[in-house]
Amino acid sequence: SKPLIIAIDGPAASGKGTLARRLAAHYGLRHLDTGLTYRAVAAELLASGEDEPDVAAAVAAASRLDLAAMERDRLAAHDIGEAASKIAVMGELRRALVERQRQFAAEPPGAVLDGRDIGTVVCPDAAAKLFVTAKPEERARRRTEELRGRGQDVDYEAVLEDLKRRDARDMQRADSPLRPADDAHLIDTSAMTIEAAFRAAVAIIDRAV
Ligand code: C5P
Repeated sequence: SKPLIIAIDGPAASGKGTLARRLAAHYGLRHLDTGLTYRAVAAELLASGEDEPDVAAAVAAASRLDLAAMERDRLAAHDIGEAASKIAVMGELRRALVERQRQFAAEPPGAVLDGRDIGTVVCPDAAAKLFVTAKPEERARRRTEELRGRGQDVDYEAVLEDLKRRDARDMQRADSPLRPADDAHLIDTSAMTIEAAFRAAVAIIDRAV
């Protein structure tokens, strides 16, 4: 039978990653955090020490990526997130990564993919699409807590400003900007527990599939 694909998009620290992992476990699907694909390429370019990000080097890194071996822990650093959102405007790199992401999604029994352009570009035929949002202040609070939990000394106001800048860059880029697909279901997690967001998502998906 056809692989089951669930698309989850939203801005940074909206709760989409946690939700995607839980949904994958619930439905017995594989999970791909597509933000990690951009981060892994960015980390390679940063490590190579070039000043100007080079498209050819980025595409080569994308083709070498081992999607199953990427870990957020190793790629969580703030400068890697910044670099990822800067290289994410490169059309040629996006096409290379989208190709890899589609191959991942197409393998049985299917997958939950989370990112910025899953419902609009990567998997427009997904069985269910969610767009997960939360107020910037709430997302900044969660991200500050997460980074402090990883032992990083961060300031809430600085995290909030970074998130807003990254949102603006992701929403305003010409290629695959962050936006809900026309048929996406919106979940605002500002005042929701993880458990409540999970139940809301399962209710939507069970109706759709
Ligand atoms: O989700 P995460 O913060 O790890 O993503 C890092 C950056 O990668 C985002 O700010 C965004 O610019 C880019 N990205 C993207 N498309 C995706 C996933 C991430 O452009 N599907």
